[in-house]
Amino acid sequence: MTDSLNIQNRKYLGSKFRLLDFLERAIRSQTGAIGTFIDGFSGTGVVAHHFRKFAGRIIANDLLYSNYIVNRAFLKTTQDNASPDKLTRLIDGLNQMRPIRGYVYQNFGGTYFSHDNAGRIDAVRTRIEDLYRDGICTEQEHCVLLTSLIYAVDKVGNTVGQYDAFLKHLGKESYDDQGKHRIDSNVYKKLHLKVLLLSFGNHCDVYNEDLNSLIHRIKGDVLYLDPPYNGRQYVDCYHVLENIARWEKPPLQGKTKKFERSHLKSRYSRKRECIQALEDLIQNARAKHIFLSYNSEGIIPENVLSTILRKRGKLKVFATSYPVFGNGAGRAVKREIEERLFYCKSA
Ligand SMILES: C[S@@+](CC[C@H](N)C(=O)[O-])C[C@H]1O[C@@H](n2cnc3c(N)ncnc32)[C@H](O)[C@@H]1O
Repeated sequence: MTDSLNIQNRKYLGSKFRLLDFLERAIRSQTGAIGTFIDGFSGTGVVAHHFRKFAGRIIANDLLYSNYIVNRAFLKTTQDNASPDKLTRLIDGLNQMRPIRGYVYQNFGGTYFSHDNAGRIDAVRTRIEDLYRDGICTEQEHCVLLTSLIYAVDKVGNTVGQYDAFLKHLGKESYDDQGKHRIDSNVYKKLHLKVLLLSFGNHCDVYNEDLNSLIHRIKGDVLYLDPPYNGRQYVDCYHVLENIARWEKPPLQGKTKKFERSHLKSRYSRKRECIQALEDLIQNARAKHIFLSYNSEGIIPENVLSTILRKRGKLKVFATSYPVFGNGAGRAVKREIEERLFYCKSA
């Protein structure tokens, strides 16, 4: 089983994987049995996935298509829509493909990826599309294969986990003369796709929309909200994965090679728009229990959050301190921030 992937085997800004116990305890203490659990800003999907065992039905949603694909793969695969044996065989084949000089090689070779891996990504991504077009894999299997590729790409990226910049020194040794870490040695390892560890179970619906639009068409017992809390746009941090997942091969701009993505920017990361966005969302939510994760360094002040939530019912706040790396200025210092979970029971 060493060659398989779990949903959490991915670096993602704001992933709640390490806070699942905290969320589980707080949410279950207030709700009792859960019919439908909604994870509205699902990111990696770890929260939705975790609550599968406590809810009859799951709804997960994220604005980024790359997250939608990953969520679909981990939440919607069943024995009826995908064959594990076939997927294992297809992944073996994909791992044996020779590099080609395509879109990724030309645009990201020598910066975000080694030239060899960029060429491998081209070959594998092209083949996944052909497998689907030729009817060799189902739509669900196509999502599963793409997810294997997204995780594999992320492992060999020449980044610190986000793609708003790439590291220098590609082509040099991993360590300098003083033994200082210069580049992650994974960058030089051959791209390798793994098989997803899937669990089957309750019914899940997965969406790829702005939650402020979707909210009018869904309802549930628990609405869990984990919006971006600072000015960093997720599409800027993950544009390379999003680009490879979409495979529309758009023209790219600037040194960091980003595509035109204004339609994928989030109001929750804009100081002047985030309060109005959250206010509309909470007003339109159709759920008995509303939970909102927001940390102490977020751009919406706590008194504003509280005022917005109180309009829907009595407010309670759960908190836990949480160690993070980095001080936001590029220094890898460890410090504690407070992760808060705001709860209101809709009147
Ligand atoms: C803090 S992360 C969520 C992390 C997630 N809970 C996890 O554990 O992986 C916020 C997510 O919200 C998404 N997002 C931003 N604005 C959105 C919107 N308006 N509607 C839906 N998703 C949005 C981002 O793409 C990002 O994945």
